Parts: sequence; structure tokens; C-alpha cells
Amino acid sequence: MSILAPTPENIARAADALRAGALVGMPTETVYGLAADALDADAVRRVFAAKGRPADHPLIVHLPSAEHLPQWASSIPKEAVALARAFWPGPLTMILRRAEDVPDAVTGGQDTVGVRVPGHPVALALLAVFDSGIAAPSANRFGRISPTTARHVVEELGEQVSIVLDGGACEVGIESTIVDLSRDTPVLMRPGAISSEAIAAVIGRQPLTRDEALGDTPRVSGALAAHYAPRTPLILVAPERLAHEVCRAGRVAVLARTAAPQDVFHWRTAPSDPVDYAHDLYVALRELDALGADLIVVEAPPGTIEWQAVADRLGRAQTGSGEGDET
Ligand code: TXA
Ligand code: MG
Repeated sequence: MSILAPTPENIARAADALRAGALVGMPTETVYGLAADALDADAVRRVFAAKGRPADHPLIVHLPSAEHLPQWASSIPKEAVALARAFWPGPLTMILRRAEDVPDAVTGGQDTVGVRVPGHPVALALLAVFDSGIAAPSANRFGRISPTTARHVVEELGEQVSIVLDGGACEVGIESTIVDLSRDTPVLMRPGAISSEAIAAVIGRQPLTRDEALGDTPRVSGALAAHYAPRTPLILVAPERLAHEVCRAGRVAVLARTAAPQDVFHWRTAPSDPVDYAHDLYVALRELDALGADLIVVEAPPGTIEWQAVADRLGRAQTGSGEGDET
């Protein structure tokens, strides 16, 4: 395994590795992905094995541009074209009806496929050289905190990845917004940097929330109640309860938007702007998880729409925390 600077030579090497069926750590603007040739079912199966991810959780296919869509999707509604124009390259994944030759390994056997054109120069350079779809889930062990630096990828996956292209720290810091356009009504499957309102402004109607649309089992692993989780138990606490909760016995590590009011084991002050908060979130959770604390106390974010994606990730981190390895 090697972390490589994203020179043209190394990007060509990474593309060759993908063609040979190997796994590559790929920076994107959201989080690092664990990349494989999306048409190579064996390579895709190795992605699931490396992550310890159940096979029925489909992967996102990353495309060099929207022009590649017809090879992956059998039907491209007008709304998808409009969203691609508005937000690609960028942190938006669309779920569309799949084309026939998309491997079942990628789609989890579903009749849909998730696609996006990532907005990171290194990912786009790799995709341009590779000239086909790259399947890439976040490059973390299943259920754990997504990586936002090349070093995190190595910490998560070690020798299971042959090359990690170092694209620096991810700008967005949390995973892409996922909107399902494969049915009559668009559904927001996972909140992200691109808000439901921004999508509505482009397509002229508000996507349903997952809860409104589906009463059934989750199809998005990022939508499982427990996800993005540190090993240390984590609780979310309302701002007015914070001072009280941090006085608990034991080593308490705190993530809050205010400065430390008193002496605690560890206090990390988080940004008060939701975009900056998202950018730092997974770095913060990794740091707090590495302290050997008994408990991580996180100040609950505001209930406003700008905080929706952050609140979603923190809620799942709380539910999944303290469980040790799932695999
Ligand atoms: O920002 C991102 O989306 C990052 C970067 C690497 O692109 N990728 C990412 O992948 O977050 P992953 O696998 O960790 O999360 C993708 C989510 C999964 O929860 C998966 O279940 C869902 O997308 N997904 C993919 N294809 C789907 C499909 N056909 N139907 C429903 N959900 C799908
Ligand atoms: Mg993930």
C-alpha cells in the first residue's frame, strides 16, 4: 500500500491498478472513496470484503461526466438532466433505473443504480484517464467514520488498498446528498451539502423525505440508524444540558460550538457555521475517539434546515457508537 501524490504519472498508475482489479483510495470533495472498476464484479466484491459491508448495500458509480449516464441508467428523466447540469461535478448522487449490464455486485441486485460526477480535481483526473465508471463507497470499515484524509484511508483499510491518491483534506467533509429519481416522486435518501431546497429550486418540486416515502427497510446503508460511529460511546446533549453532562465521572471528551467553560478531560470547540462544522466533523470524531475517553459528549446542533446533514450524521454516530467492531 502506498500513499501517492496525485501527479499525472501516479494517476495513470492508479487507473492501471483499477484495470487490474485492484482497489484504490480516491479523494473526492465529500469523503475518500474505496474505488474499483464498476464493470469488474470481482473487484467490486473485493470492495465489500475490504469494508466488511453486507452485499445488499449498493455502491455509488462515479462517472467522468454526465455524458456517460446512458451507459449506466436505462431511463434518464428530465429532472435528472436538470440536476446534473446544476450540481455536477459536485456532491449529489442520483438513484436512477439501471442499465442492463451494470453488475449486480454494484447495485446489490436492485433495479436501480446510484451515480454521481464528483467535484474533486484528482477524482475527475482519475475518471478521465480511466474513462469508465468507478464504483466507490466511502473508504471506511462498515458503519465507521468516513475518511476525509488519505491517512484516514490507511488507518481504516491498511493493506487492502493498493494505492491511495492523496488529494488533501476533503472540502465538504460529509457524504453526498442522495436523491432517488427512479420513482414517480423524488425522494431525499440522504441529506448532504446540497439541500432539499436547492434540489426543489431546480426541479420545481420538493423531494419527499425518506420517512415520508418509505415505511420499509432502509436501502441506503448510510441511512441505517447506526452509522458513522466512533468506538467510544457518544451522546448528543442539548446546549442547555451541556454544562451538567460534562461533569459526569470519568474521562469525558466534548465537542461543542462554545469554548470550554470548565476543566474537562478534553474539549474540542467546533465551528459555529454548519458548512465549516461538516468539513471538520469526521476529523473531530476521529480525534475524540482516539483519546481513550469513557464518553464523548456532543452538543446537539440547532434544529434548522442548514444543520440537517450534520444532525443526520451525529444522530447515527450516537446510535452506532460504543459497539466495537461489527465484523
Ligand atoms: O459522498 C459520497 O457519496 C461518497 C463518495 C466516495 O462519493 N460515497 C459514499 O458511498 O458515501 P457509500 O457507499 O458509503 O454510501 C452510498 C450510499 C449507500 O448508503 C448505498 O446504500 C446508497 O448510496 N446507494 C447506492 N446505490 C443505491 C441504489 N441503487 N439505491 C439505493 N441506495 C443506493
Ligand atoms: Mg459510507
